[in-house]
Amino acid sequence: MEKSGNSAEPVVYRGLEGILAAETKVGFVDGQEGRLSYRGYDINTLAEQSNYEEVSYLLIYGHMPNQKEYTEYVERLRSESDLPEEVYDLIRKQAGKTHPMTSLRTAVSYLATFDVKESASDPESQEVMAVKLVAKMPTLVGAIHRIFSGKDILKPDRELSYAANFFYMSLGRRPDPMESKMMDTALIIHADHGMNASTFSALVTISTMADMYSAITSAISTLKGPLHGGANERALMMIQAIGSPGNAEKALSEMVERKEKIMGFGHRVYKVYDPRAKILKQYAQYITEKNNKNLFLTANKIEELMINRFGSKGIFPNVDFYSGMVYSALGFKTEIFTPIFAVGRISGWVARSLEYIQDNKLFRPKAKYVGEKGPLKYKPINERD
Ligand code: ACO
Repeated sequence: MEKSGNSAEPVVYRGLEGILAAETKVGFVDGQEGRLSYRGYDINTLAEQSNYEEVSYLLIYGHMPNQKEYTEYVERLRSESDLPEEVYDLIRKQAGKTHPMTSLRTAVSYLATFDVKESASDPESQEVMAVKLVAKMPTLVGAIHRIFSGKDILKPDRELSYAANFFYMSLGRRPDPMESKMMDTALIIHADHGMNASTFSALVTISTMADMYSAITSAISTLKGPLHGGANERALMMIQAIGSPGNAEKALSEMVERKEKIMGFGHRVYKVYDPRAKILKQYAQYITEKNNKNLFLTANKIEELMINRFGSKGIFPNVDFYSGMVYSALGFKTEIFTPIFAVGRISGWVARSLEYIQDNKLFRPKAKYVGEKGPLKYKPINERD
């Protein structure tokens, strides 16, 4: 939080840190206790007992679906899951030239072209667009993963769950029950997380009465950065580069000396261990046990050293530290880690956008002007130094 030297001066809250800008019933992050809940349900309970479809419904509609609501919602997701051929073609044109997040952002924006209500801003139309986007997100990311890997696309399989279908469309095989569970859990624990930067972007856009495609395009653009969703790619690359537990101390000291941020650590809200990282750590240990135990042991050592050094400052592993290790062991390419985040987060983005427009207020903060007050004398260009 920033400071302004003179008490008569207005205070500038850099990064809006600590500012309450909206009310919400969607989800709650307890940064001091390390707890995350969606509409009152603890994330650990949902990860153990629920599935992504149910959690998506819960976030958007505010209650756990009964059997009829659940069946109808799943059917809506299935019937909306395919993409127009033009969108697959667009992704083909981008392959090899862009980051998958660039492709995802462009493809979501392009999807609006195929929706007759793309510019509507009434709540009913926004809800319809929201469900279409939830339905299409795994297909989009699956297609990007296949096409960017030089493989043919796979159309959605109606028999599979949301998470298993995403796995199948991305990796070309049906997951076993444990892989399916890990994928489902990863999507659940990424589904919502307070007023994070990408959610805030979505809300700023929807608050102008723009449509849901525009809001989600903003959110994806914001998720791309390495201080937000992009940290998971970089965390895995760092663990791989360090290579063994024995190298960790020296490598970390050098990074800290250079004042580099260690990817996968620290959080604006959590000042204790991120509860999502706890779940992913268990999966990372399980999935690397047979073939890549060294990778997990290296990560574990980095964690131990970081907590010893920075734990007192409230810096602990965040969700991005172990997620990349799990995705990589499942078979996903590194550049697809952040798009996977988007597949999970789509439900939170649309849920909060739909909630916000129920009592809409245009976002319009102010900036404190610290530049030249003037008025300066205008000089023609040929008289300037
Ligand atoms: N490594 C080393 N030092 C760190 C780290 C880190 N990962 N994170 C914070 N710090 C230090 C800062 O250097 C700063 O130290 P100082 O007070 O001595 O200057 C202090 O902790 C506060 O850091 P800020 O960056 O000001 O805290 P902020 O709340 O703005 O940052 C953020 C949170 C952006 C997540 C930060 O911790 C970071 O950059 N982490 C690495 C990137 C990352 O993992 N991002 C994913 C976050 S989770 C998500 O978005 C899904």
